[in-house]
Amino acid sequence: MKSIGILTAGGDSPGLNAAIRAVGKSLINSYGDQVIGFRDGFRGLMENRTVRLDETALSGILTLGGTLLGTSRDKPHKMPIGGRILDMSDAILQTYHKHHLDALVCLGGGGTQKNALLLARKGLNIITLPKTIDNDVPMTEVTFGFDTALGIATEAIDRLHSTAHSHHRIIIAEIMGHNAGWLALGAGIAGGANVVLIPEIPYDVKAVAEAIRHRSRAGKNFSILAVAEGAVSKEFAEVTTATHKAKFKAANKGQKAEIKLRIQDLEHERTEHAIQLAKTLEELTGLESRVTILGYLQRGGTPSAADRLLATRLGTACAKMIQENVFGVMAAIRGDQVVPVPLEEVVGKRKTIPLDHAWIETALSVGISLGT
Ligand code: F6P
Repeated sequence: MKSIGILTAGGDSPGLNAAIRAVGKSLINSYGDQVIGFRDGFRGLMENRTVRLDETALSGILTLGGTLLGTSRDKPHKMPIGGRILDMSDAILQTYHKHHLDALVCLGGGGTQKNALLLARKGLNIITLPKTIDNDVPMTEVTFGFDTALGIATEAIDRLHSTAHSHHRIIIAEIMGHNAGWLALGAGIAGGANVVLIPEIPYDVKAVAEAIRHRSRAGKNFSILAVAEGAVSKEFAEVTTATHKAKFKAANKGQKAEIKLRIQDLEHERTEHAIQLAKTLEELTGLESRVTILGYLQRGGTPSAADRLLATRLGTACAKMIQENVFGVMAAIRGDQVVPVPLEEVVGKRKTIPLDHAWIETALSVGISLGT
């Protein structure tokens, strides 16, 4: 009988409980193993805070949102402890060995893959599963959580249509996705948004205003914009790139610290981006503008059927990989298959939307403006 640890890390995502259940049930039922959950991601692992995941604990959780284990964004090698940032990897190794674990399963997004690789390099048997509503984990076709969030964002756009139409307004729906626009583009196409702005394509605000005026001239006095939270104007993108380059070239520590502060200011400016954009569009088009930030609604609640299925497929395949001693990998979706991908091939990349992706052509073909 093997002992397997499991944790969830990073932002939560619909389907986490379905995945925990799938890993746990197949390990217990098919292979006779025992499963220990660690609370609140890598912090709980470091602090040895456990939950016994037996059959009873794994029952009735398939449809629940969030994660029964709790989560955190703590990193093993950079953990805030008593006002200091410390490398706690050794404490994590101790917990792993204390429980005589044969493997540790980490459910998470891009950051979690990186932390998991770090622990794999220290000799732990690690397997990860890709979750995030942003769908930006590389080397897997899809991550669980995305489909649920896509449904929520699409429904929001549907609902915003009738009120935008009634009031002859521009309504901006700000959709999650700091670095990748999968959710905004997917929901924008599915919900029939008129403009979609994504981080991959810096926009020209004049082009956005023109797309809205074009609709007004055709008698459509309202517009819906699906805007990813990481979308930026061309000017903002240029300033950001130049600032990051300057940081790279900084001559000394003082200069670097100064530029870091400038980057923080830019990040702050970006958080108010949708509100600023609404004001500018109101000025340029003469149409009243409003903003709806969908925020955490997109991450909460029960997972869709597709996410439950995906999480269950990944979880059961992960249990099988453990039996086959396949470690240091992420279980990834490739067509009908779940395949192990070495963590080295996952870490350090981000799956953004390629500019020649079919969804971009699709959006343009139905007349959606991408702000260019
Ligand atoms: O789960 C991914 C994500 O939702 C991003 O789209 C978003 O920027 C981020 O998490 C925010 O999460 P938190 O506020 O929990 O750090």
